[in-house]
Amino acid sequence: MKAIIYTEYGSPDVLHLAEVAKPAPKDNEVLIRVQATPVNFGDLLARNFKSVTPRKFSMPILFWLPARLAFGFNKPKKHILGSEFAGVVEAVGSAVTRFKPGDQVFGYRGQSMGAYAEYVCMPETGALAIKPINMSYEEAAAVPYGALMALGLLRKANLQRGQKVLINGASGGIGSAAVQLAKYYGAEVTGVCGTPRLGFVKALGADKVIDYTKEDFTRDGEAYDLIVDILGKSSFSHCKKSLKPGGIYLLASFKMKHLVQMLWTKFAGSRKVICAMVSEKAGDLEFIKELIEAGKYKVIIDKDYPLDQAAEAHRYSEAGQKHGSVVMTLA
Ligand SMILES: NC(=O)c1ccc[n+]([C@@H]2O[C@H](COP(=O)([O-])OP(=O)(O)OC[C@H]3O[C@@H](n4cnc5c(N)ncnc54)[C@H](OP(=O)(O)O)[C@@H]3O)[C@@H](O)[C@H]2O)c1
Repeated sequence: MKAIIYTEYGSPDVLHLAEVAKPAPKDNEVLIRVQATPVNFGDLLARNFKSVTPRKFSMPILFWLPARLAFGFNKPKKHILGSEFAGVVEAVGSAVTRFKPGDQVFGYRGQSMGAYAEYVCMPETGALAIKPINMSYEEAAAVPYGALMALGLLRKANLQRGQKVLINGASGGIGSAAVQLAKYYGAEVTGVCGTPRLGFVKALGADKVIDYTKEDFTRDGEAYDLIVDILGKSSFSHCKKSLKPGGIYLLASFKMKHLVQMLWTKFAGSRKVICAMVSEKAGDLEFIKELIEAGKYKVIIDKDYPLDQAAEAHRYSEAGQKHGSVVMTLA
């Protein structure tokens, strides 16, 4: 089968089309012919992991070496990127009961990756579900990572109807999902993002948008029940005054100091810090599918590339002008 492979870390130019062995499903697995796969944060990170120094790493320094070893210290251990996809079930293993050939599905492979390819195998109990009927393959492929991570994050905050939420990093994979899910849970949502994506975040349903290049949300006098910081670009000390008593500062990316703050605020003060680690839950994708079919969750595609232009798709994703998902399609 055809796949986009990379055998060394580096710029988008390390990605190239190659012929590789087609996977065969085990008894409990589903073989899927991929129709679309997006470019997400994890793909960009894994493609150039060598450039991620302990300082640039978005998690505690103690996790850096294990992560670097897991990805491959000097060269990538896994040669096919792509954690999300949508496609058609081509064959199923003998023990599979949930899916059959011909089913249109979407799914998330996490760090196993491998979706920049014509075929992937997934365990039927993995993060795999029937594709929402009202979405194209391109749209459905761009759902799982952001939606699953955002759902897991928001659960940690036990969000209530009517609460005020600010998402710092509202235009990215996780943030754009968090905006929509927080709206679904009945919150009043402010999204913080860069200038080119203000309209995109508004179109996702945010009640208010703030451009972080022009305005510091911690200085406008507003107070929130929940501040979600996706990249950990703000700080608890600055955000404290923007949190109501009992408010939560929830971090998707965090360092050791945030873990200490989490421990400290567990016992002292009314405002809490939560550093959240999320792992995908298979059933959550079914829930997201229902939201999509009920018109409560959407994806906005910015650009669509054929898979053999993966390098171009990565270049565009990193250029800073995208306003929506960048997806690659297979003929
Ligand atoms: N905790 C977990 O379990 C977990 C799981 C997966 C990922 N993560 C973490 O989540 C992060 C990736 O999230 P993602 O996939 O949503 O990334 P992404 O798609 O690259 O989005 C990044 C977001 O951050 C915004 N941003 C960039 N600079 C900013 C600044 N100075 N101030 C405020 N916002 C800024 C971007 O805004 P513009 O693009 O508009 O400039 C964009 O909205 C990584 O750090 C990763 O480690 C955590």
